[in-house]
Amino acid sequence: MQAAAERRVDHPLVDSYGRQIQDLRISITDRCNFRCQYCMPAEGLPWLPSEKVLTDEEIVRLARIFVHHGITEIRLTGGEPTVRPSLPNIIRQLSALREEGLESLSITTNGVLLDKLAGKLADAGLTRINVSLDTLVREKFHRVTRRDCLDRVLKGLATLENYPSIRPIKVNAVAMKNFTEEEILSFAELARSKPYVVRFIEFMPLDADGNWRREQVLTGREIFDVMNRWKPLLPIETRASSTSRRYRFVDGLGEIGFINPVSEPFCSTCNRVRLTADGQIRTCLFSIDEWNLAGPLRAGASDAQISEIMQHSVSHKELKHKINEGPAFQRASRSMSQIGG
Ligand code: 5AD
Ligand code: SF4
Repeated sequence: MQAAAERRVDHPLVDSYGRQIQDLRISITDRCNFRCQYCMPAEGLPWLPSEKVLTDEEIVRLARIFVHHGITEIRLTGGEPTVRPSLPNIIRQLSALREEGLESLSITTNGVLLDKLAGKLADAGLTRINVSLDTLVREKFHRVTRRDCLDRVLKGLATLENYPSIRPIKVNAVAMKNFTEEEILSFAELARSKPYVVRFIEFMPLDADGNWRREQVLTGREIFDVMNRWKPLLPIETRASSTSRRYRFVDGLGEIGFINPVSEPFCSTCNRVRLTADGQIRTCLFSIDEWNLAGPLRAGASDAQISEIMQHSVSHKELKHKINEGPAFQRASRSMSQIGG
């Protein structure tokens, strides 16, 4: 693996505000085995027809071209990426891109299949993982995900601890008012007693139902204050492009992180683009326009032509989200499950 600093990238993806894109999120399916309240309706969403979803080969080809343009991190998302049976195969093939400059290969998962899959994912070359876990109380877990699966997710997390090549193990909790407050110290205890990086993500208006209200956002600051009063949180240095503020406890195994896109937007250092399961580039979570890669790809476009679309899309990357610009802000054109986190 070459260090990023030494690596020469002929055509880095730099947007019109000077941000260099180095982080690619690829949604490999829009399907999910959960129905989180803030993401999907109980009956699910109309899924993409399978012929529209990029094949393993198509994903790998696009990823390789992205890596040649300086992408160093790839995260596979969904829907729920583990419901795609070929996930280990995709990881194995993407893992080979480490020879070409890829440094980090991760997935974001709800964790429910991890007790069975962790070993396969580690063998395939996964290096990092984010597991979504919004509550440690069984009944609340059932209510929010509409599945009674807390124990399986915790078992999945425990299984991951047996595979040291997958680190860090990040646990992501969407923080919501009247839901998360009473569990702040339970999550703190989780990060002290287990080697997990527990991160709180402010609730964003990406729910399929369009029910998001500002009053439901529990800010990172509010959580920080409660935790810090309990035991002092010691700051950890992070990279400029990092979305999270990180802390540790004097006597803890893990870490605590805060991702505050609503109360403290980090758009100015955003280095991400997303590829949807049906092969569209989204340059912001809140994009209303997408750039079609699947069409040209399937019509036989050359690598150079694909590259041109990538460059073009990045040159139109949005300056910032508009969640804080009044009640009639523009909502995203897809929900989180259709975009991938
Ligand atoms: N706001 C914040 N985070 C969300 N996620 C899903 N929907 C939202 C939302 N509306 C999170 C999931 C998972 C990741 C994919 O995004 O919990 O951690
Ligand atoms: Fe599935 Fe993730 Fe949406 Fe929950 S948040 S329904 S796990 S895609």
